[in-house]
Amino acid sequence: MKIRFATSNPHKVAEANEAGREFGVEFEQIRVDYPEIRAEDVEDVAKDGAQYVFGKTKSAVIVEDTGLYIEALNGFPGAFSAFVHRKIGSDGILKLMDGVENRAAKFRSAIGWRDENGVKIFSGEVEGEINSEKRGKEGFGYDPIFVPKGQKKTFAEDFRMKNKVSHRRQAFEKFCKWVAGA
Ligand code: IMP
Repeated sequence: MKIRFATSNPHKVAEANEAGREFGVEFEQIRVDYPEIRAEDVEDVAKDGAQYVFGKTKSAVIVEDTGLYIEALNGFPGAFSAFVHRKIGSDGILKLMDGVENRAAKFRSAIGWRDENGVKIFSGEVEGEINSEKRGKEGFGYDPIFVPKGQKKTFAEDFRMKNKVSHRRQAFEKFCKWVAGA
């Protein structure tokens, strides 16, 4: 089964396909830009994006939105993670976290699915910590500064581990189970 995934990020498609394999679900990247609404929840961003792309293309599609929520920063950058990454990057986050003892953070992912029957949302999250420095060359975005709970390496140091435990893995497993009727 093939599912259209509207994103400009090929890393996300690769991660989705890792999750989809065991369910016989394949994700195919389509490039349709959509505006990201200003909202605090990734679910709202994903829902709106899916509605928008469906409205333009008239066929079933998913979009996915991720946010990094840092406890000591009251959940910042959250659904504004893309904007913050463009402006200050992981280095900027490390500066904001300089001397901060509570390093707890989580990634949240939401998939918005839209077809002729309406919208459905699938969420996933992974808890962890903001590392004291960037480590690793794999992955993308904030991967070099995030160490999931129970692990020693950052997502950027170990993409196999990321693909097993990540926020995206969990959201995509839920979606695949549903769409494949498992
Ligand atoms: P978006 O979901 O594409 O809007 O991503 C929001 C921001 O979080 C962007 O700066 C991404 O690079 C970053 N991001 C999204 N997913 C991940 C991930 O799995 N690991 C690390 N950073 C991510």
